[in-house]
Amino acid sequence: MARYPGAVEFLPARHNLTALRAGIESCRGCDLYRDATQAVFGEGLKRSRLIMIGETPGDVEDRTGRPFTGPAGRLLDKALEVAGLERSELFLTNAVKHFRYETRGATGKRRIHKTPSQAQITACLPWLEAELDVVRPEGAVVMGSVAGHALFGSDFRVGDHRGRVSEPPDRQFWSVVTIHPSAALRADDRAAAFDGLVADLRLAAERLTG
Ligand code: URA
Ligand code: SF4
Repeated sequence: MARYPGAVEFLPARHNLTALRAGIESCRGCDLYRDATQAVFGEGLKRSRLIMIGETPGDVEDRTGRPFTGPAGRLLDKALEVAGLERSELFLTNAVKHFRYETRGATGKRRIHKTPSQAQITACLPWLEAELDVVRPEGAVVMGSVAGHALFGSDFRVGDHRGRVSEPPDRQFWSVVTIHPSAALRADDRAAAFDGLVADLRLAAERLTG
């Protein structure tokens, strides 16, 4: 397994969202900064009650610099709306902040998302920790296995946690585990996958008001 220096030494001394967002552009904590356009930091209210954690920026997010602004983001927006959650009241982020991809096609221009490795997830974790420190959420929606690996450790499996509120180890907040929105885009039965995502988001919404 590749060993990376990790993000710790790149974190600014002051942990506020502005300083963190400015600092992350110079992160060299793993190798992903090299081929990506920019880091994609989390977005949302400083003190959001709910944080939503995805995997990594995709092709679109790598260009826009904002999380969940591509196809997975559109699906997530719809699911949030059906579940009665307001995107503007959440803090939305990813476990890994730079886009990992491989190129395909004759011209090598198509960039195909690649799942970050456990070593990259670990290297990037200090940025997520810093976001959690600032936001101090009541709850987290953990979208997919990469986010799960970041919060629960490397033997995490989405299926072991779905359908209930769970407690990530050594945290002050609860979590609801769900699929990644891109998995709903790829599913054979997209309607069923979407409904499952909405049901999980409703669980988080109910827990918030409860
Ligand atoms: N998938 C993610 O996990 N995050 C994004 O920002 C976009 C797609
Ligand atoms: Fe730093 Fe994370 Fe980007 Fe790696 S993916 S360079 S650890 S911000």
